[in-house]
Amino acid sequence: SDGAFSPAVVVGTGYGAAVTALRLGQAGVPTLMLEMGQLWDTPAEDGRTFSPMLSPDRRSMWLKDRTEMPLASFLWLDINRRIERYAGVLDRVDHGDMSVYVGRGVGGGSLVNGAMAVTPKRWYFEEILPEVDADEMYGVYFPRANAALGVNSVDPGWFETCDSYRYARLSRRHAHKAGYRTTFVPSVYDFDYMRREEAGEVPRSALASEVIFGNNHGKRSLDRTYLAAALGTGNVTIRTLREVREIRRAGDGTYWLTVNELDQAGNVVARRQLGTRYLFLGAGSLGSTELLLRARDTGTLPDLGEEIGRGWGPNGNVMLGRANHAWDLTGITQSGMPALGIDAWDDPEHPVFAEIAPMPAGVELWVSLYLAITRNPERGHFTYDAATDSARLHWTAGQGEPSIRAAKAHFDRINRANGTIYRHDLFGDTRVFENRFTYHPLGGLALGTATDLYGRVHGYPNLYVTDGSLIPGSTGVNPFVTITALAERNIERVLAEDIRRG
Ligand code: FDA
Repeated sequence: SDGAFSPAVVVGTGYGAAVTALRLGQAGVPTLMLEMGQLWDTPAEDGRTFSPMLSPDRRSMWLKDRTEMPLASFLWLDINRRIERYAGVLDRVDHGDMSVYVGRGVGGGSLVNGAMAVTPKRWYFEEILPEVDADEMYGVYFPRANAALGVNSVDPGWFETCDSYRYARLSRRHAHKAGYRTTFVPSVYDFDYMRREEAGEVPRSALASEVIFGNNHGKRSLDRTYLAAALGTGNVTIRTLREVREIRRAGDGTYWLTVNELDQAGNVVARRQLGTRYLFLGAGSLGSTELLLRARDTGTLPDLGEEIGRGWGPNGNVMLGRANHAWDLTGITQSGMPALGIDAWDDPEHPVFAEIAPMPAGVELWVSLYLAITRNPERGHFTYDAATDSARLHWTAGQGEPSIRAAKAHFDRINRANGTIYRHDLFGDTRVFENRFTYHPLGGLALGTATDLYGRVHGYPNLYVTDGSLIPGSTGVNPFVTITALAERNIERVLAEDIRRG
């Protein structure tokens, strides 16, 4: 059972949380991590840890009766299927005009994401977080994060000849024909493993379409990197199926958490109190923001300010598909892990970084798919809803329009240059651009506004934010490297200045 007190507590086990726990553990601080999802390290009866991608079962999603995939349809046929309600690995949290995908389990988003490990353009990083020393970030913390995450790059020679990136080579050719630049995207998927998958030497994961419901092989998710190292310090403990609900602060400065213990069907089987001196919120943009909003509005941390819940954005995410000519084959084997992006981020009017995404169905579909990251200046905010005891995101369809305009500007050009058209059958209705979901929720507890410049929550000593909620709505690239590097920077300062040891 949970101990009644732990010197440090980290909520969540995603990127920010994992960095924080490792550095606390190395500094000798006994640290307890509380994760609402499960530990994914044991194969089930079918020999797999995670659900197969193309025939998803209960392991695929967090407490849902049906799968809820981002590509809702193909030729307007619903491709989702019924599943048993279970504490699976991918969650989709619906907030009206915006649905947010998040990972649940030890490793957070690292269990379900596309492994694309991209360092943002420096000039853009300086624009979104102008008060953070960019020399330090690019000289120390981005390199530290990339090394600890195990980032690697595809062998360009192999890329040119393998079957599994035929789809990416085709999209590259179409982009080049329209005058665009493409770039390889570093990854935390082991490209050497992928090469052996294609050679038939090892069990397939990326080449078996695995990605959003977890990779059974090949991916360096956080449980294999930061979290393994954190446990290795001997000072870090992870408890799973523990959902933190409330945060109070006692007169002596102790933070008291109310923690729900869940079973695998999501039922609350126990409710416990846990005290700590140093509390780090790493529950992600949605999770950490909700915890502090609830604490402010129910009066358990009444001095929290107006900035809690502000500055949220979907990183400008837009998904779209293009219909290829009959002679332009994408290939029936498509790596689930993207390796190439179209880089138009320096476009003065419509900055776009578009990942060339797989549509791994195991058959030729003549579709080129993209997840475009655009520079959308709109920001949403959260309010606390007492009736449901949860945070509600306020984001309207209209706020997503700038993202569509940006993606359209570039992909219209690519279509014109290649004599191709958009697909209209992928997102449930006839829309071409899907901007009603995001994989990249950012903000809610922005650095320098809700917290100081190192993630210390204003008004509450020894209370910290470590995750994607610190980044105000946009990073211009896939965000986990930025989240990791920022967490490295912040915990170094906090360890040096705030934490009493021994
Ligand atoms: P993260 O969301 O990772 O972790 C939060 C953890 O806290 C979760 O494990 C959650 O269960 C837990 N938690 C939440 N509330 C809690 C509570 N109250 N009590 C206890 N635990 C709680 N990024 C990228 O850079 N490259 C990519 O290729 C992709 N691709 C991609 C695909 C898909 C399908 C998704 C969903 C996401 C991506 N991303 C991505 C985004 C990336 O995964 C994301 O930005 C990070 O995981 C966010 O890291 P955080 O540290 O903010 O929290």
